[in-house]
Amino acid sequence: MTRFVGQPIDRSDAQLKVQGGATYAHEVDALGKPVYGVIVPATIAKGRIASIDTVPAAAVPGVLLVLTHRNAPPQAPFGPPEPPTKAPATRFSRARPCLADDRVRYWGESVAFVAAETFEIARHAASLIRIAYAAETPRLELREHLADAYKPAGITASGKAPTDSVLGDVAAALAAAPIKVEATYRTAYQSAAPMEPHAALAEWEGGKLTLHTSTQSVSDTRAAVAATLQLPLTDVRISSPYVGGGFGSKLGVRPEAILAAMGAFMLRRPLKVAQTRQQTFSMAGHRPASVQTVQLGATKDGQLTAISHVAIVQSTPHEEFAEQNAMPARTLYAAPNRSTTHRLVRLDLAGGEPVRAPGEAPGLLAFETAIDELAVAIDMDPVMLRILNEPKIDPEKKVPFSSRNLVRCMQEGSARFGWTGRPTTPGTRRDGRWLVGYGMASAIRSNYIAKAAATATLDRKGRVTVRTDMADIGTGTYTVLRQIAADEIGLPLERITVLLGDSSYPATAGAGGSWGAASAGSAVKDACAKLRAAIVAKAGGGDYPKMVMTVARGVDRPGLVAQGAVVGMAENPNYQKFSQHGFGAHFAEVGVDMDTGEIRLRRMLGVFAVGNLLNPKTARSQLIGGMIWGFSQALLESAEVDPRYGQFVNHDLGEYHVPVYADLPDVEALFVEEQDDKGNTLGIKGIGELGICGSAAAVGNAVFNATGVRVRDFPITLDKLLAGLPPSGSVRA
Ligand code: MOS
Repeated sequence: MTRFVGQPIDRSDAQLKVQGGATYAHEVDALGKPVYGVIVPATIAKGRIASIDTVPAAAVPGVLLVLTHRNAPPQAPFGPPEPPTKAPATRFSRARPCLADDRVRYWGESVAFVAAETFEIARHAASLIRIAYAAETPRLELREHLADAYKPAGITASGKAPTDSVLGDVAAALAAAPIKVEATYRTAYQSAAPMEPHAALAEWEGGKLTLHTSTQSVSDTRAAVAATLQLPLTDVRISSPYVGGGFGSKLGVRPEAILAAMGAFMLRRPLKVAQTRQQTFSMAGHRPASVQTVQLGATKDGQLTAISHVAIVQSTPHEEFAEQNAMPARTLYAAPNRSTTHRLVRLDLAGGEPVRAPGEAPGLLAFETAIDELAVAIDMDPVMLRILNEPKIDPEKKVPFSSRNLVRCMQEGSARFGWTGRPTTPGTRRDGRWLVGYGMASAIRSNYIAKAAATATLDRKGRVTVRTDMADIGTGTYTVLRQIAADEIGLPLERITVLLGDSSYPATAGAGGSWGAASAGSAVKDACAKLRAAIVAKAGGGDYPKMVMTVARGVDRPGLVAQGAVVGMAENPNYQKFSQHGFGAHFAEVGVDMDTGEIRLRRMLGVFAVGNLLNPKTARSQLIGGMIWGFSQALLESAEVDPRYGQFVNHDLGEYHVPVYADLPDVEALFVEEQDDKGNTLGIKGIGELGICGSAAAVGNAVFNATGVRVRDFPITLDKLLAGLPPSGSVRA
């Protein structure tokens, strides 16, 4: 029988998407002529609305509703879901009221809302709203307020992980170490900026809400909307079959969804609201900035004796977000003395939120740069240094790894990349006016699984439909679930339909944390195995394809249904007995213009060990996407806070720099074979976030190797390099 899993199959939804047939939330045909909403954001960082004049806006012909804190419907207070919702409390199912009071907590918080017959009318009327603020002095600068850092109760390693860890005596080991590195790194605010801005269409029928919205987690969005509007869960339906990227920013509920739901209820009309691109920079969360200090102690031959990683990260007074920046330092290398520390600083900015590899992406940028600095200090090949400190078991949890092939990734990567041909003395290789350098770094990202359910239904035509509320945020979920279903049922791909993103389907935790494929995939596999067993039991025997058709012809509507499920990490003992992670090694070559400091990527290679591949084509896309984002994190991306008003000033894709094709001449992701049966029945590990783990450090390390200039304030822009470069013209070829 054909096995579809493991094949580089094209995306099921590719044609629909390129032909415009995949309908995104804001494009859905409403039940009746829709109303359009526009959100008015606050223009101070902190304070109170002193007065608000909506009369001119309300007077514009075509305006149907102007909402402010004075007339917004009652909502639950901000916080965990309350009865009657009875949903499990997660960060993403929290009630998130809009226009609930006169407080302004951050620049860009929604303070008014206009709904009108057309978008243009709503936008014009919104511009007429006059707000006077009683502004207070905001705290905006992470660097200024470092002394006020506090210890959160836990960090967000998919739930709560310990805030700090200590093994041995780091201070004594550092004092005794012949080789020491201590360095402080700064990472920038980053926006998720998905291609499809956050959007919603709300419709009420018979007292029940249908919300078409762009979300990574249908179940959490349903719970959060129900909690905010104080509705029973069963009165809220979420539909989100296509999502144009999320990267974490669509895990939670945003103002457009709540405002659309409230406005549609008040107007008894369908209501469409989208954030503008500019608004996504303040309303959709961001990767918080950090200041991180890494201390390493080692012997002269490169044995690590001490590791310390202290991460201080932006949070807010209104909502805590505690990234896991120092988590990788708990697992990556062996050392007898070690400590990791997470602290937060409350600033009057929008809250930090998960953004692809939250914690690991900025954490590994600091940590893997420090490891490179140690290699330089010892004058040792950075690959050799890492191999020398490979742990046999998890160095802090003291349990075995479910599988760990980091060394193989490094060896395979160095061979393919030609690592031995690297410039061993920084700043010495030239190609015309370009200084050329090589850099590398390790990748690590925890492997997770979340509770999930699915159904598989055989219809009268012998087709199977798989249903789960899982999202496809552009990763290829439709495709890989179809491959899994086809193999498990024993039918060709053409006979399998996958339906996703609807709260009427069995619940999952959605697409986040790189757990999506393992979680929904395991549930689908289970449902399909049960359906196959039911088919065989009903038919009683014979040739399987014939059995399918015999059983199919006999089924009534809605067909023969099998339920599948998988338990989450808390119920799966393998997540306590084993340390589970995906690993990889990144290699980068850059050129730096010796006169201008301009940095160009020349090539980048990642080699990854992630268990089985469901689909090498979609897996490669995920990983090179992450690698490219790491390149961008190292050299380009920074959302800059205006120190007066607390807005991210470069809040569009013209001013907030992201790479384009011309920046990425040669980026490749390869895999080493790996068997791992500990995480899930598919033998896979999460891959959505692994590519951005460590890739920024590899690029930064290459810049150092090219120039001999170590920039620890990311992104590495040319102005930070220039002072250290050779005098202009002196070394021109
Ligand atoms: Mo990811 S930051 O959990 O979407």
